Amino acid sequence: MHRMKTLVILISGRGSNMQALLEAELSVDRIVVISSNPAAEGLKIAESMGFKTVSVDHRHFPDRETFDAALAVEIERYQPELIVLAGFMRILTDDFVLRYQNRLINIHPSLLPAYPGLHTHKRALQDGVKIHGCTVHFVTPAVDHGPIVIQAAVPVVSDETPQTLADKVLKQEHRIYPQAVRWFLEGRLTFDDQIVTVLQASVHDCVIYSPGLQH
Ligand code: GRF
Repeated sequence: MHRMKTLVILISGRGSNMQALLEAELSVDRIVVISSNPAAEGLKIAESMGFKTVSVDHRHFPDRETFDAALAVEIERYQPELIVLAGFMRILTDDFVLRYQNRLINIHPSLLPAYPGLHTHKRALQDGVKIHGCTVHFVTPAVDHGPIVIQAAVPVVSDETPQTLADKVLKQEHRIYPQAVRWFLEGRLTFDDQIVTVLQASVHDCVIYSPGLQH
């Protein structure tokens, strides 16, 4: 019998990465969006696109352990191939992370291992870095430190603000996240300790592109 291929996307807010994934026509039978916040904008987007949504409100649980246990119960209903964190603002317990090891991925708005944590764009600007970006990585108990799947880089220009930088990086997030999920679903990601390899990647998968700026 054909087992239903399911993707679970976990969100807490705006849901623009979730939307990019929902629009990507991924080869799965079903996508379920679960939010830790019942007021998340992303829930409305997913519903309007006809996807199943569920809320597991973190405020109804006394601690991380009980919240994560409830989240896992919900996830288990769907037996997903992959769980995708897309702006999911809760730090997950080690138990949860280890349970879903190798099938739990996240996107982070910096070129990891630089700038784990919050306010990445502001911190990058304060440091005067000239290249910034985003990273898709497998989730491990060390927050924002798991094996890297793909990164995209953007130039930091002289009049950059945290907002302009965030906008540029976000565009790239919307490119690389569906790409990483596709690779996973195609069985093309292998890892050896911390190092991920994309099998049969072509030069088109790994090019640094430029629109050709005018001077
Ligand atoms: C993104 O910047 C993502 O990298 C980070 O949280 C933000 C979520 O934005 N993890 P959205 O909800 O996907 O629009």
